[in-house]
Amino acid sequence: MDVYGLIGNPVGHSLSPPMHEAGYEHCDIDARYVTFEPPADGGAAAVESAAQLGVSGLNVTIPFKQDVLDVVDPDPLAERLGAVNTIDFQTDPPRGYNTDAIGVVRALEHHDVDLAGRAVVVGAGGAGRATVFGLADHGLTVDIANRTTEKAVELAESVTDSSVSGTATGQGLDNVEELLVDADILVNATSVGMESDESPVPAEALHGDLAVLDAVYSPLETTLLRDAAAAGATTVDGAWMLLYQGVEAFERWTGESAPVEAMNEALRAGLD
Ligand code: ATR
Repeated sequence: MDVYGLIGNPVGHSLSPPMHEAGYEHCDIDARYVTFEPPADGGAAAVESAAQLGVSGLNVTIPFKQDVLDVVDPDPLAERLGAVNTIDFQTDPPRGYNTDAIGVVRALEHHDVDLAGRAVVVGAGGAGRATVFGLADHGLTVDIANRTTEKAVELAESVTDSSVSGTATGQGLDNVEELLVDADILVNATSVGMESDESPVPAEALHGDLAVLDAVYSPLETTLLRDAAAAGATTVDGAWMLLYQGVEAFERWTGESAPVEAMNEALRAGLD
């Protein structure tokens, strides 16, 4: 039996175990997915121990995504963005990936969104960073709008300094309406709207040529997505991002095409 898992602190709320185990069951893979909660300064040690114990793969969440860089061989995207959320132990040192970044792209692709043109990403924290690098890696021009302008500018500079093909600008959140006029894609990568009816973007700024992805998945139908649908935009809820970071990890670990529908069903059952 293969063992996969998640390290984070805390990890109690994770929906990854049912999502991945639905995938194993569907593909007849003899494996389990378990959660581990090392101490906050113990991420790298946990990865080294997992390698010794014969664990096949780990997902990594807050606060360990940067710390584990020291004990893995990161792929170019994970290295550029400076965070790892998926570790594959088939090699020594283990390989590190960032499927959060790829998950954003695959969630949009699933909804037939054309990955070209201009994207506006609201937020410059961990989720914002993964989103920005994922989209810029696909050649998009990304305008980052953040409450704290300085953080958006720093993130944009780190995109420019890396070798991704797209470019980025960093601005204050007050500029979001102006930025959206010419935008094709909008991603909310802040926690605004989580368990609340707030939206990070005024409804009047949304239009029918946009695809809007909200990283918030509780509730699934946020005010932003409701406003976006009313404006005629394509909407993509936060569960798609969660799903596709998991799908991408599953495929890297097992070498098989993930049973997306089975994993989606298990994930959404946990969110209801
Ligand atoms: P995560 O890792 O989930 O991205 P984070 O690193 O704490 O979390 O980042 C949270 C993001 O949400 C930040 O971009 C934050 O803006 P600041 O950089 O100005 O703090 C943004 N954010 C949180 N609450 C917000 C609010 N009420 N309005 C606007 N932006 C908010």
